[in-house]
Amino acid sequence: MKTINIGILGYGVVGAGVAKLLKTKQKLLESRINAVLNLKTIADIDTTTDRGIDLGTTDLVPDADKIISDPDIDIIVETIGGETFAKQFIFKALENKKHVVTANKALLAGFGNDLVKTARKNRVDLAFEASCGGCMPIIKTLRETLVANDIKSMSAILNGTCNYILTKISKEGLGFEEALKQAQELGFAEAEPSLDIDGFDTAHKLAILNSLAHGMEINLKDIHVEGIRNITPVDIEFAKSFGYTIKLLAIGKKHKNHVEARVHPTMIPETNPLSHVDKSMNAIAINADATGQTMLYGHGAGMMPTASAVLSDIADIARNIISGTNRRVPILGYPEENIKAIPILPMAQLYIRYYLRFEAQDNPGVLSKISGILGENNISIESVHQKGKKHNGKVPVVMIVHKAKEEWVQKALKEISKIDSVVGNPVIIRIEEIDQG
Ligand code: HSE
Repeated sequence: MKTINIGILGYGVVGAGVAKLLKTKQKLLESRINAVLNLKTIADIDTTTDRGIDLGTTDLVPDADKIISDPDIDIIVETIGGETFAKQFIFKALENKKHVVTANKALLAGFGNDLVKTARKNRVDLAFEASCGGCMPIIKTLRETLVANDIKSMSAILNGTCNYILTKISKEGLGFEEALKQAQELGFAEAEPSLDIDGFDTAHKLAILNSLAHGMEINLKDIHVEGIRNITPVDIEFAKSFGYTIKLLAIGKKHKNHVEARVHPTMIPETNPLSHVDKSMNAIAINADATGQTMLYGHGAGMMPTASAVLSDIADIARNIISGTNRRVPILGYPEENIKAIPILPMAQLYIRYYLRFEAQDNPGVLSKISGILGENNISIESVHQKGKKHNGKVPVVMIVHKAKEEWVQKALKEISKIDSVVGNPVIIRIEEIDQG
């Protein structure tokens, strides 16, 4: 049986999970792959902390170069994260003609196009199933399983931290800070929490998924990103009363010559399965032309679910190696020469249905001023809701408006916030019905 040598860069939670699977599932992996997956070396600056894994003959070294320059190592797994050392090591590994497996969504979203070019030039694979949605096989699904489909839209919950916080506020009445603290204690929040709660982690993942879905260059910079910091229990209560749930959604839609890509808190109907994806779970609904709606659901983070996804990449590459091939499936699902720079539509151009909330002094004429400004900006009101107790003379006024151009809505909100009786900035939450195919 052929032996395939593997090196892991970064012996943190995910790196340790990968080592654990390679060690404890050796027999299962051999029987499925027909090769020995030998974990030859792990590199990490911390070589002393006990991770509770019997490494046997595997070397644990402080120097990444021991792996990157080892001629016997076939596959390098990068589980360091971040964009400094990880970036430098992956580029060097690809140049050294090593196949690379990574879970590093930030790096792929920012430098994926260059990484793909480097892998192509060196005729090696770059695999990243663990970068989006943890153990959900979303990369393989888009890249291989749905090969005969045009992907019409994707709606996804891709950040466990945000989903956990929103679930806790919604179901247990917890405050934002308390819910964030719990998420961090459970270990799925990023070290820098703003990556999660301001929506960037979700945007990184959407940039990768869009590319695979549509054969487009990875484009992070044009994705509209809003996080969940401004979501309050008041909005969650209003949403519930309308039969909606608030989720941080990644939305990707294909139009004729461009793509729509946005990340923001979204009201979705309680009847949609995504609204029942709670706590740290992730899910994606893909609407494709041949399949109709397909959904994946699973743990989006955590040691073993993420390691499971890494192992699926290792297995693919190992199977390629033993059958004497490589790069059998193109990295982004399309041969590099067929990848296009498909533009992402500016948010201002999109037509969306909105929930708008204003804090207003309970003075005569406020409502008519607000609705007047909306009307002048071409925005048609679907319903108006005013409930709850007056607090310091203020009441929340909620309006649901019919689909309108984002540009008009933003302009109207600026004008409304200048009305004397309107306090603070209006809250805007977009509403999506989500095509259930
Ligand atoms: N911080 C991410 C999350 C981890 O909360 O989902 C997985 O990418």
